Amino acid sequence: MTGLLPQSKISGILVIGQGAREHAILWGISQDAPSGPIYAAPGNAGIADFAICVPAYTPSDIARWAEDKGCLLVVVGPEDPLAQGVADMLRGQGHVVVGPSQQAARLESSKTFAKRFMNRYGIPTASWKIFYNPDELQKFLMTREIWPLVLKQSRLAQGKGVVVATDRDEGLEAIARWSGDPHVYDDGILAEECLVGREVSVHILTNGKDYVWLPLAQDYKRLNADPHSPNTGGMGAYAPVDWLSSQERKKIDDTILRPVVQAIAQESLLYRGILYVGLMMTSDGPKVLEFNVRLGDPETEVMIPVLNIPWTAWWWALGQGHLLEMRMPDPEKAAVAVVMASEGYPRQPVTGQFVDIDSSPGGLVFHGATVRDNGHLQAKGGRVLTVVGVGSQLDAAREQSYRQVAAIRFPQSQYRDDIAREGIH
Ligand code: AMP
Ligand code: GLY
Repeated sequence: MTGLLPQSKISGILVIGQGAREHAILWGISQDAPSGPIYAAPGNAGIADFAICVPAYTPSDIARWAEDKGCLLVVVGPEDPLAQGVADMLRGQGHVVVGPSQQAARLESSKTFAKRFMNRYGIPTASWKIFYNPDELQKFLMTREIWPLVLKQSRLAQGKGVVVATDRDEGLEAIARWSGDPHVYDDGILAEECLVGREVSVHILTNGKDYVWLPLAQDYKRLNADPHSPNTGGMGAYAPVDWLSSQERKKIDDTILRPVVQAIAQESLLYRGILYVGLMMTSDGPKVLEFNVRLGDPETEVMIPVLNIPWTAWWWALGQGHLLEMRMPDPEKAAVAVVMASEGYPRQPVTGQFVDIDSSPGGLVFHGATVRDNGHLQAKGGRVLTVVGVGSQLDAAREQSYRQVAAIRFPQSQYRDDIAREGIH
């Protein structure tokens, strides 16, 4: 490995974001006991227990704050700042950044860009059409004979831009619901073939040339076990996933991951970060549902605790375009994450409830939407806590996670009681 700056050059570590994912990233870094300061922008109440929270909310606020901080190692959590070019801005200031360029972040911020990219390189994905106005889309739905059909806003929509319409009425309903927003057609609406199968989240760390797999994780997107309940940011996760055979993994590698990374290189996209590929395992092989240019939430909260690696060294190398090893060690542990969300989530989360986690029996509690008011922990949004149990096996991790959930006082919270149930044999 050439040209890697020594870790002593790090003047501080900054993680951008404010959710349980960022709490978990910072927790992983803190296990290495780094010598310099650890910052989060803007962070949350749980992060504030061990990092300095910086009240910087936009890429330019963050860049302004970072100007005189020496050489920071920056790990970008969410997609929005990446789509706004925060990685380019901070790299331009000489910081070492884990996160793709704005141009590469279009793999997530424009589903149209991602689809064209996949089609150019023959990467398997659902067939699609694009519509730039409601009349055309409505006309298409009126003559469509094959249902269900997936309708997706091409732009970033905070997880609210996808509808799996089981019939024409549901499709028309989605168009009507989105019609109030004048920008909804700016980057188009995609109508996609509905894929059938089992979903899995595959994350790789890549420098745009080589890549390593992170452990496979399974997330739970629906609010509860009812498959028709609302889609959420994610209500739980477990890792590792053992239901994919080695042939299936090889197929994912051969038909999707390698071609995607080669295509990134071919198009000269600057990529030093995480690529999260949402996959559907169909009877016709794995197909891409979506790309995300960052770690999944709550997948991160289970992937980080099961990997016993020096996270700071990995991020530091990746930010400079290197992978520390060509393979991650196999996880020796399993982890189960249960998200405790506010009443009303995802439609209208009730905020302001007091939360007491002090009676939680050990284990990891990553904070999402929390604030501290006069020393009291309060919920300030939808996904409030991600409670993680870690064990030698999945069943022990699951038991630990639910034992912690039972001990946390958070009246009227919602959580799923079936996380990792099907992963246990
Ligand atoms: P996306 O934001 O594109 O990942 O979509 C969110 C969720 O919608 C996915 O995790 C799937 O559960 C579902 N979904 C998206 N696209 C499709 C598709 N083409 N076929 C079936 N389900 C889909
Ligand atoms: N867990 C889904 C996501 O992070 O997009």
